[in-house]
Amino acid sequence: MTDTVLRQDEGRVAILTINRPDKLNALNQAVRDEMLAHLEAIENDDAIGVVVITGAGAKSFVAGADIGEFEGRSPLDQREAMRFPRIFDVMGEFPKPVIAMINGFCLGGGCELASSCDLRIAAETARFGQPEINLGLIPGGGGTQRLPRLIGLGQTMKLVLSGDMISAQEAHRIGLVDDVVPAAELRRKTLELASKIAAKSPLTLRIAKEAVRASWRMAIEEGVRYERDLFCLCFSTEDKKEGVKAFLEKRKPAWTGR
Ligand code: COA
Repeated sequence: MTDTVLRQDEGRVAILTINRPDKLNALNQAVRDEMLAHLEAIENDDAIGVVVITGAGAKSFVAGADIGEFEGRSPLDQREAMRFPRIFDVMGEFPKPVIAMINGFCLGGGCELASSCDLRIAAETARFGQPEINLGLIPGGGGTQRLPRLIGLGQTMKLVLSGDMISAQEAHRIGLVDDVVPAAELRRKTLELASKIAAKSPLTLRIAKEAVRASWRMAIEEGVRYERDLFCLCFSTEDKKEGVKAFLEKRKPAWTGR
C-alpha cells in the first residue's frame, strides 16, 4: 500500500483521506485499490466502529474519476477497470457506518462515492455535481441509480443532464447532504457525530444499517416484514439484554458487541 489513501484513527473512528490534492483527489486505480484494502482491514478491526471518508486539502473532496485514465480506453478496458468489488457497492454493504466528510469539490465519482456513504456532512464551501455529460459520458458509479433514491428523479435529471454544479446549501435543500457546516468546523462536527455513533453497540449498528439500507431495494410490504425480523433478531443479542437492563437500572450500558 502506498499513501494514496491515508488512514488515521481517532478513538473508534477511522478517517480515510484520499490523498491526491494536486489532482483534486480524482479517483484513479490506486485510490480504488487502496480504499478497498483499507476497508477490508477496518472491517476486521474491532477497535473501529465508524469510517469517515474525506479528501486531502481544502479544495476538493473528490473531483470525479481520473479523466486521464479514460483516454484511449476501449469498452473492454473500461469494463476491466470497473470490475467488482467496486468501492461504491462496498460502502453500502459495509458492516459499519460510513460518513462522507465533504470538504470541497464533490463531482462525478466523488458525488457517487458520497452518495454511497450512509451520511454526508459538507463544508459550506463544497460544490456538487455530475459533470460527466460534458465529457460525453454518463455517471458510472451508481449515480443514475443511487441519486434518484436520495434526491428524486427530477433533481437527479437536473444534475445528470445539465452537468451543472450546485452549492452545499442547494445540496442540503434537495437532500443530497444531511448537514452543512462552516468549513473550519467540518472536522470537529463530523468527528463529534462519528464518535457518538461509534460508541453504540457495533452489532446493533450493523443491524440498523442493514434495515435502513434494505428500504432502497425492497418494496414497503417486504421491507417492514424484514424490519420486524431484524428487530426480533436483536432479542438474541447480549447488547439488547444489556441495553434494556441498563435502562431499568438507570445506568449507562456497557456494550460488548455480542
Ligand atoms: N481527473 C483528473 N484530473 C483532474 C480531475 C479529474 N476528474 N479534476 C481535476 N483534475 C486535475 C486538473 O487536471 C489539474 O491538474 P494539472 O494541475 O496537472 O493540470 C488539477 O487537478 C487542478 O484542477 P484545475 O482544473 O486546474 O482546478 P480548477 O479550480 O481550475 O477547476 C474543477 C476545478 C473541479 C472545476 C475542474 O478541475 C474540473 O472540471 N474537473 C473535472 C471534473 C469532472 O468532470 N469530473 C467527472 C469525471 S468523470
